[in-house]
Amino acid sequence: MEKTIDESIQGSALRTENKIHNGRNLYIESYGCQMNFSDSEIVASILAQEGFNTTQKLEDADLVLVNTCSIREKAELTVRKRLEKFNTIKKDRPHLKVGVLGCMAERLKHQFLEEEKIVDMVVGPDAYKDLPNLIQEIDEGRNAVNVILSKDETYGDVAPVRLNSNGVNAFVSITRGCDNMCTFCVVPFTRGRERSRDPQSIIKEVNDLWHKGFKEVTLLGQNVDSYLWYGGGLKKDFGKASEMEKAMAVSFAQLLEKVALAQPKMRIRFSTSNPQDMTLDVIHTMAKYENICNYIHLPVQSGSNRILKAMNRLHTREEYFELIDNIRNIIPDCAISQDMITGFPTEEEEDHKDTLSLMEYVKYDYGFMFAYSERPGTLAERKLEDDVPNEIKKRRLSEIIALQRQHSYERIKANLGKTQEVLIEGSSKKSDAHWMGRTSQNTVAVFPKENYKVGDFVMVEMQDCTSATLLGKAIGYSSNN
Ligand code: SAH
Ligand code: F3S
Repeated sequence: MEKTIDESIQGSALRTENKIHNGRNLYIESYGCQMNFSDSEIVASILAQEGFNTTQKLEDADLVLVNTCSIREKAELTVRKRLEKFNTIKKDRPHLKVGVLGCMAERLKHQFLEEEKIVDMVVGPDAYKDLPNLIQEIDEGRNAVNVILSKDETYGDVAPVRLNSNGVNAFVSITRGCDNMCTFCVVPFTRGRERSRDPQSIIKEVNDLWHKGFKEVTLLGQNVDSYLWYGGGLKKDFGKASEMEKAMAVSFAQLLEKVALAQPKMRIRFSTSNPQDMTLDVIHTMAKYENICNYIHLPVQSGSNRILKAMNRLHTREEYFELIDNIRNIIPDCAISQDMITGFPTEEEEDHKDTLSLMEYVKYDYGFMFAYSERPGTLAERKLEDDVPNEIKKRRLSEIIALQRQHSYERIKANLGKTQEVLIEGSSKKSDAHWMGRTSQNTVAVFPKENYKVGDFVMVEMQDCTSATLLGKAIGYSSNN
């Protein structure tokens, strides 16, 4: 799965291994970024201890939880529609309780209980350990709310149950919250200040995953390159740490190395990188370890220096190019992807052209592109008028999408004739006779199954491609197998 928002899994309900003695059914649905999907695994793990099994049938649910996203208005509208649906089910199952988790819960807080009568419980992203108490409250007929953001909660001690897992790839959270305060972004308000998770607990989770048969982990955070462990606490308080704590601190590059060394046969990915925080050590570490995948998701949001500044992205277009050049020099076959926003307040045609020319320079392998959506409470909402008309936002968006398509196709075609290692994830959606997997660059590859199986590392000769999929033939196991 890509970093940000995988459209195909939006709203999917989580399924876990159930315990026989658990008597109640939890239906948990997730929206938004990978972090939410990962958090739902933590929530399911906490509730498994409280007598809940997961179900994928809404009609069987005793408790419905919806893990929500606030990043754009559309994401919130989708959740509101779902809440209406839950309301109709509640008429037939009066004992059914409904709770809202995640970013929308944090953003709207008590407002939710007043506005949406259907909701019984509102729980912010740092309050999941309080769920047992909150559920007791709702069992006793009261509404329950906990939206307190924490300085140190990282859920490092909760072993998440893996939901809907293919048994091959897993996600491991390494940081929570974000301090960057990009002016368009609601995340710093809904997920709080940035804090990092204890490297020991990260390594332990990665080792456990390996022993369970997983072959790939993605280290997750809003801004992974900013990872800094100095014994616990907020990133912004690092300056107050003791000399000893500072000397023992672990940076992202060091964490990456520890993980790569802990499981040398496991593929390691990470997401998301903010260009202003990505250092050369990270790129060198990627180059040094074969098992760290050659793929960087490096959102830029705009190619215009004026807009980057207004967005509070703390780098220029030129600095971004320097970073891209460094990546290309140090890891020549590294795939790079972007996030882009069109129609940020005051964006002119010139700025848009700068975005197109930046894309021409980088020629990204993939991209996630969005029209600006004003979010309540953000700096942009308070200080700037959302003044780019919708039609213009949409036209610019379609232009950057068309250009990205062209680049993606050019990039994928460059693989033809090459032989690459693919980790098999499952059957191809289109054909049961073919496996689907990914290359180190995160490109999807499909090939005839023969005697290979899920979780195998296979060398595949790339013979053909569509705009997003490589088609090939396996020529043997990779040495990593
Ligand atoms: N660092 C985060 C970014 C979270 S938001 C991560 O790990 O994914 C994901 C993307 O949504 C951003 O990179 C940005 O391109 C887009 N986005 C955020 N706020 C937005 C807004 N107000 N309008 C449109 N797109 C937005
Ligand atoms: Fe949002 Fe910028 Fe952080 S996009 S998540 S404030 S890096």
